Amino acid sequence: METGPLHVVTGAFGFTGHFITRRLLSMGRRVRTLTRRIDRPNPFGDRVSVVPYRFDDPDELTRSLRGAAVLHNTYWVRFPHGRVTFAEAIANTRILIRACETAGVGRIVHLSVTGASEDSPLPYFRGKGILERAIRESKLSYAILRPALIYGPGDILVNNIAWFLRHLPAFAIPGDGGYRLQCADVEDVAEIAVSASERPEHLVVDVVGPETYTFDGLVRLIAGAVHSRAKIVHLAPGVARVLLSLVGRLVGDVVLTPDEVAGLMSGLLVSSGAPLGRGRLPDWLLEHGPTLGRTYASELGRHYSRA
Ligand SMILES: NC(=O)c1ccc[n+]([C@@H]2O[C@H](COP(=O)([O-])OP(=O)(O)OC[C@H]3O[C@@H](n4cnc5c(N)ncnc54)[C@H](OP(=O)(O)O)[C@@H]3O)[C@@H](O)[C@H]2O)c1
Repeated sequence: METGPLHVVTGAFGFTGHFITRRLLSMGRRVRTLTRRIDRPNPFGDRVSVVPYRFDDPDELTRSLRGAAVLHNTYWVRFPHGRVTFAEAIANTRILIRACETAGVGRIVHLSVTGASEDSPLPYFRGKGILERAIRESKLSYAILRPALIYGPGDILVNNIAWFLRHLPAFAIPGDGGYRLQCADVEDVAEIAVSASERPEHLVVDVVGPETYTFDGLVRLIAGAVHSRAKIVHLAPGVARVLLSLVGRLVGDVVLTPDEVAGLMSGLLVSSGAPLGRGRLPDWLLEHGPTLGRTYASELGRHYSRA
């Protein structure tokens, strides 16, 4: 039974939150998670206590944070859908920050993104920039981590690139594919989050691995790892966006939004800082290539289904 300091992780049954939780448990920390998925099977059993997000009841939310040394915050939405909006995600995160202040949480480790900026024309990056400021201006001790594309078991984007490469005869790249991006191994993100939780000073750092790829290069790397025979073609961005939306209908998901394509093409997933992550994507692909992309990972299925 863990007896160490209490860490609260938002989304321990999600992607990054799962790996942060695993690492915390391996270090003997007590973990509580805030999630909507209170009825889903808990892969950590009774080692992680499960409490619903109560953005609608700040007092209850504050109670769920009392006694916590750290909040690891992964909560965010990838894109607006149905009644879920970026404005709501910003408002909820502000409520969470205030609840941490009231509960006396010792430190917040907040997952942001490379290229976060209040001035961004893209709502995802603008929302992240707005929340970075809210955290900087709060009373909390903070570490703001800004990962680029995160890959690892259970990720959506790298997995689905592999799925398309395995299952379709062609893979369409918007534009020339020469725009650059960096990735971060989810194990590195978790390790950096946990070690940032133990530092005393305010911290704002990008979290990327040692390599920079062009998007074209990344897709070809993944194609090699899954022995894809798909033809890789380049399409005008407007045509690629229409195709993405059609393919999305086919798989019943939002594959990549026009804003995500714009963010990718404008190089927002690149850091100007030194890489903190050590994991190399080719090494990871060597191990995980045989299973990568065998099953489609649905963003809508994961976050919007009631099952
Ligand atoms: N994945 C990447 O490549 C990447 C890259 C850069 C930055 N980031 C940032 O890193 C953090 C973690 O990303 P992740 O991919 O690991 O996220 P995730 O596990 O899919 O979700 C993280 C948390 O957000 C909640 N959430 C997600 N979508 C939601 C929705 N539509 N409505 C309500 N709640 C929702 C989840 O709630 P439940 O617990 O109820 O499921 C979970 O608690 C995020 O802040 C993300 O912006 C991720």
